Amino acid sequence: MVLKGEIIIPPDKSISHRALIFSALTKSRVKIKNLSKGADCISTLKIFEKLGVKYEFLSERDLISDSSFWLNSNGNYTFDCGNSGTTTRLLTGLFSGLKINCTLVGDESLSKRPMKRIIEPLSLMGAKITSNDNKLPLSIEGADLNPIIYHSPISSAQVKSALLLAGLNTKGKTRVYEKTLSRNHSEIMLKYLGANIITGRDEQGFYTEIEKSNLISKDIEIPGDISSAAFFMVAGAIIPNSEILIKNVGINPTRSGIIDIFKQSEIDFELINERNIANELIADIKVKYTPEIKPFKIEGDIIPRLIDEIPILALLATQAQGESIVKDATDLRNKESDRIKTICDTFKLFEVDIEENTNGFIIEGKKDFNKDVTLQTYLDHRLAMTYYILSLINKGNTEIKGFECTNTSFPEFLDLINKLTVSDI
Ligand code: S3P
Repeated sequence: MVLKGEIIIPPDKSISHRALIFSALTKSRVKIKNLSKGADCISTLKIFEKLGVKYEFLSERDLISDSSFWLNSNGNYTFDCGNSGTTTRLLTGLFSGLKINCTLVGDESLSKRPMKRIIEPLSLMGAKITSNDNKLPLSIEGADLNPIIYHSPISSAQVKSALLLAGLNTKGKTRVYEKTLSRNHSEIMLKYLGANIITGRDEQGFYTEIEKSNLISKDIEIPGDISSAAFFMVAGAIIPNSEILIKNVGINPTRSGIIDIFKQSEIDFELINERNIANELIADIKVKYTPEIKPFKIEGDIIPRLIDEIPILALLATQAQGESIVKDATDLRNKESDRIKTICDTFKLFEVDIEENTNGFIIEGKKDFNKDVTLQTYLDHRLAMTYYILSLINKGNTEIKGFECTNTSFPEFLDLINKLTVSDI
């Protein structure tokens, strides 16, 4: 089979969470255009609904968020965050600042993920959070918070955003430093909605500083998700004779590390029609099958710019001529699955020459996939979609167990694959 034609990539998951959270803080009506309907974002929406925010859908992905009357903070809520780390971490920061007594729970994968990264700094601010050994369930008991200057030991947008949301409801200025800039969608949207927020860089690193602010009501439009586009970008590059136009992709520089890797690998692609919506950069991406793919190296500052794309880039590495290296990516072990282990274990089933290291892996490429296999997804949506693209180049049969977890971020995935599929001539 060959992939040919054009698709519009569905809305960005990270920005959709932020649109739901920040619109709820305006205490008014906000039009949100192009919201992700992935299960993760619906977890966030359902939590605000429980707190009294009203949502009126105007079409499949456009809605009005009405937060005029929300927040009955007298309740002691239990909120289900499903599979979503972003929901859990951002809302722990927000609810600590707003003094909402609640317990956050999640599915089996989320319940294994580390929460110390937010519990520690929020506790330094005065938050009262109890947990199951720094994992879910996590309970927040309303307490007054103090501002903080925090040097984050990891470059994580979830940690940064949790602290910004706590700082937004605290007297004084909260400043978060990170060594490498993680995705800055919170900062962009907070500025867009009129928050008192500044960003910059000094000798201590990249910083974001926020203080108590009233957010204003403005339409928010969400671009397509580069992390979803990544599966089609790689599929287009590795499936012989393919040519795909992927439209409306957010290419915010803090997210677009995959574009740098495509340049390193000399993939035949171009960015077309670059434009801006709600201060986020967007483009259409045209990708063609590239028979000679160069190996690549992912390390250091680029990691936060492509952290979610590493599983599918690992598949790209198997098709490159030579040795590709991923290092400095230990936090991959803390995602929806331990992605270093799951990727290495899976590729070994196909006899790919892959070496697992604590902080990444090394892949010797130019590998034909030709095995009958059953693959486990471990509730990890990005693994499921990587396996699906792998199945398109595997000459054997591929069975994927738990494929439905793609709904977490990308329920439209299979429909778009089918739209592009033409049989071999
Ligand atoms: C996200 C940030 C990233 C990313 C996750 C979504 C966000 O996590 O892996 O899928 O929306 O803030 P970290 O920044 O914590 O690495």
